[in-house]
Amino acid sequence: MLDGKRLLITGVITKDSIAFHAASQAQQQGASVVLTSFGRARRMTERAAQRLSDPVDVLELDVNKPEDLEGLTASLRERWGGVDGALHAIAFAPEDALGGRFMTAPAESASMAFETSAFSLKSLAAALEPLMDTGGSIVGMDFDATVAWPVYDWMGVAKAALESVSRYLARDLGPRGIRVNLVSAGPLGTVAARGIPGFEQLAALWQAQAPLGWDISDPAPVASTICFLLSDHARAISGEILHVDGGFHAIGAPSTPGG
Ligand SMILES: NC(=O)c1ccc[n+]([C@@H]2O[C@H](COP(=O)([O-])OP(=O)(O)OC[C@H]3O[C@@H](n4cnc5c(N)ncnc54)[C@H](O)[C@@H]3O)[C@@H](O)[C@H]2O)c1
Repeated sequence: MLDGKRLLITGVITKDSIAFHAASQAQQQGASVVLTSFGRARRMTERAAQRLSDPVDVLELDVNKPEDLEGLTASLRERWGGVDGALHAIAFAPEDALGGRFMTAPAESASMAFETSAFSLKSLAAALEPLMDTGGSIVGMDFDATVAWPVYDWMGVAKAALESVSRYLARDLGPRGIRVNLVSAGPLGTVAARGIPGFEQLAALWQAQAPLGWDISDPAPVASTICFLLSDHARAISGEILHVDGGFHAIGAPSTPGG
């Protein structure tokens, strides 16, 4: 499905990362992959990169640093001449913006969540646009932001912004053949998720209400959908949000009391 595609995969920190599974499946489907990481996380990403069936390089990228974004464009141009697709699997919110502290979180923390988790999709797309001469596919990671959740707080607001950013990118990059879509995943037990105090509360909701059931330790179905959106099978899809959540989003309440 991804034969010959040159893909940039951000957001791998461990082998539990959604992006790790996306990179792994993309390789199995014929893609060439490079990862990104930064700062203290880099050694962990390098370790994860070695665990892929075909070990890959890790490029430096703090998505909030313009110099890293410039370096990324240059390094991908040198490596491949162009890029066919990218996964943005990046999110961060300071501790005081999560876990039930919505009313007290300072503006700086909300802004940090917005910059790293939503504005950064635009930043990454702008860095890759010059490398996508023949079109391309950019995929970001969402957690349904049409409603308010327990504990998700300012990350939820950042995800609402991400949903909007992806639509504006679809508008502006569509004429160049670049598609921009999001995958709205159910809860998965990754480093980012475990960093949300009370994450288990969200995970428990899925156990009670997802009609297909949901395994928080299995990112493979989410990774498969990412690969689909990166592939030519999705060539007429842009500005879309695909829910990969066991059907949870379509159901208003558990079918039987308590689950
Ligand atoms: N795990 C879930 O339950 C879940 C559900 C829906 C959506 N998501 C989204 O999936 C994406 C990937 O998260 P994950 O759950 O795989 O967790 P993860 O912790 O494995 O990945 C998060 C990644 O973000 C990176 N990151 C943070 N700040 C960055 C910065 N300034 N520059 C570059 N990279 C930065 C981290 O290095 C890490 O690799 C996130 O957008 C997350 O919100 C996760």
